[in-house]
Amino acid sequence: MPLLPPDPVMTMPELDRTFSVAPMMDWTTRDQRAFARTLTRHALLYTEMVTTGAILHGSPRERFLGYDGVEHPLALQLGGSDAGELAECAAIAEAWGYDEVNLNVGCPSDRVQNNLIGACLMAHPEKVAAAVRAMHEAVSIPVTVKCRIGIDDQDEDADLERFITQVADAGCEVFFVHARKAWLQGLSPKQNRDVPPLNYPRVHRLKASRPELHIGINGGIKSLNECREQLQHVDSVMVGREAYQNPWLLAGVDQAFYGVAGPATSRHAAARAFRPYIDRRLDEGAKLNHITRHLLGLFQGQPGGRRFRRHLSENGHLDGACLRVFDDALSLVPETAPASETA
Ligand SMILES: Cc1cc2nc3c(=O)[nH]c(=O)nc-3n(C[C@H](O)[C@H](O)[C@H](O)COP(=O)(O)O)c2cc1C
Repeated sequence: MPLLPPDPVMTMPELDRTFSVAPMMDWTTRDQRAFARTLTRHALLYTEMVTTGAILHGSPRERFLGYDGVEHPLALQLGGSDAGELAECAAIAEAWGYDEVNLNVGCPSDRVQNNLIGACLMAHPEKVAAAVRAMHEAVSIPVTVKCRIGIDDQDEDADLERFITQVADAGCEVFFVHARKAWLQGLSPKQNRDVPPLNYPRVHRLKASRPELHIGINGGIKSLNECREQLQHVDSVMVGREAYQNPWLLAGVDQAFYGVAGPATSRHAAARAFRPYIDRRLDEGAKLNHITRHLLGLFQGQPGGRRFRRHLSENGHLDGACLRVFDDALSLVPETAPASETA
């Protein structure tokens, strides 16, 4: 018999954030995340940003918060700025079983700026701090922040440090920093992901000056080798577009960063492992192309990859499209021996 009752803190599994897939609206949907799990069991996955308004007033809640158990470890990203509403949503996220709740302080879109959501909050560290404090008090899961290295003319190391210090003082210990400033006027969200130059050294200096904080880096990372290089300077890497557009990258993540073999021995094996999930979602009424659009890049650069993509694009949206369409698309790609598959 154990001598002591279990310590609730000790029994909470520690989240290993070494590699995460960035939150991406319309891309990191529940179907994409379930597919990602055929490639990596350990990467931390993020939802799309969900606004506090959608959670508190949208219906049904399942539409905004529903996920499959296979997606763990899974973090919910929130968009909002009202501390009370964010705290309420954080509590809801915890009740729904999310492993972490993250606040979006990086999105530069006009629409969210008007609601004081996203990157514009970097100009209001006191608001972010109040929100983080309220969320932190409302839940026992970690509360984290994803931000930019700067916005507009607040674009010096000192500006970033001031923001981080104020928010860390409110209880946030984990920051994901997109290593690109955002121009809030004049650039679209898409341009804001490419135009302002990347500044990795600023994030590295932030980590050096605040070693006690978990600092993750995001922006422009395209390979596992680049991830390894970044991990010399920071605690974790968060990869967005490359993980989505070239999902096979994820197949090497478990081995590279968690020391265990990943679940997929080949791209075909990953696709086949996803079939029961597709079947189940079709039974629930989902449309095939809404699920398979996230797999279009699976055979990127492989013989037959374009035929696979074309077949799904041309047939996946048709009424009654079923698993057969997916299987036919797969049969257009010659299956290579697992040994020739490398991430
Ligand atoms: C289609 C798309 C949607 C995005 N939606 C979000 C979002 O909901 N929340 C967020 O914090 N960042 C969002 N981002 C930004 C990414 O999380 C990430 O910071 C950015 O793409 C840079 O990383 P990358 O170069 O690895 O893609 C989005 C990016 C893309 C491409």
